[in-house]
Amino acid sequence: MASVTAMESSLFELATRNLTIIDIRSEQEFMANHIINSFNLPFLLLNDRKYELPPRYIKFFVVVCKKELNKVYDWFMKQPFNIEGFLIWEEIRHLPKNNRNDKINNRNDKNAFPFQPCPLLKQEIKFMKSMIENNRDTNIIDLGCGSGRDIIFMAKYFDKSNIIAVDNLPGKITQVRDFAKNYNLSNIIEIQKDIRQAGSLHELFNDYQQSNKNIVDNGLSIVIISRFLCRDIFEEIYKLLNVGGMLCIHSFLTCNIKPKKMKEKIDVEELESVFHIKYGMKILRNNVYIQPDDGRKLSMFLAMKV
Ligand SMILES: C[S@@+](CC[C@H](N)C(=O)[O-])C[C@H]1O[C@@H](n2cnc3c(N)ncnc32)[C@H](O)[C@@H]1O
Repeated sequence: MASVTAMESSLFELATRNLTIIDIRSEQEFMANHIINSFNLPFLLLNDRKYELPPRYIKFFVVVCKKELNKVYDWFMKQPFNIEGFLIWEEIRHLPKNNRNDKINNRNDKNAFPFQPCPLLKQEIKFMKSMIENNRDTNIIDLGCGSGRDIIFMAKYFDKSNIIAVDNLPGKITQVRDFAKNYNLSNIIEIQKDIRQAGSLHELFNDYQQSNKNIVDNGLSIVIISRFLCRDIFEEIYKLLNVGGMLCIHSFLTCNIKPKKMKEKIDVEELESVFHIKYGMKILRNNVYIQPDDGRKLSMFLAMKV
């Protein structure tokens, strides 16, 4: 066997550690052979599935065919990603490869996503899971779910729960649907609904009552609000939460200049006062997260209905 160059041997080490490697070759090429622990996101789909890539504060490698390198390089240079380097497939000889038919969505390791869920869920998922051991038929709802990173993350951890994705934009709902398909997840329910007005959450459940009685009857076990705020429905959230159910709020704090709209921001004390005193919820976490890329601060608030 040819000797392993210094570069390749260090890459070998990287690949076997927890580093992120995105392979942008076609699915067929990837299925035929790929670096172990790499993720496939074909270049043709990248524009529509950017949200599956790692956030700016995580560096990653891109695997590309020699003939595509210039095009791929140009695309990535125009994007706000943090690329560690490009690996040319034809020149990778010594990295551990895998020619089994394993698409990324068949991975067993639940932490093995190229994208990141919100820091609150990432940090607390094991604790939350321990609190809701039997997740059969429980309901988890993400209000203002966006493209659905938290939804996919929760769907993998709570594989017997109904994961309800709510957003007012039809485009976001389509993204969640595609995202779920890519990860072979069937426990996700997408609902397009404006949920900022008081009464809208009850309305959403009433609309749903006919077709999905179980979902309505079983109440909510986890409510997620991430980088969004819908304080006018806080009371409804409380009412629909089951005893023992948890509320996670990861929202921008008032001390940030951006986003400019004041309605979007919250005080740590505001969450404390609403969900502790008024509703008698037990506060489990109430910290501040500072985004590594721009220094903005967000709540890390987790409370349980008692
Ligand atoms: C900054 S994004 C956050 C997305 C996701 N939760 C995350 O943390 O990545 C805010 C999301 O809230 C949704 N949204 C805004 N106003 C809404 C409303 N009135 N009803 C439902 N969703 C809304 C937006 O469409 C957007 O997808």
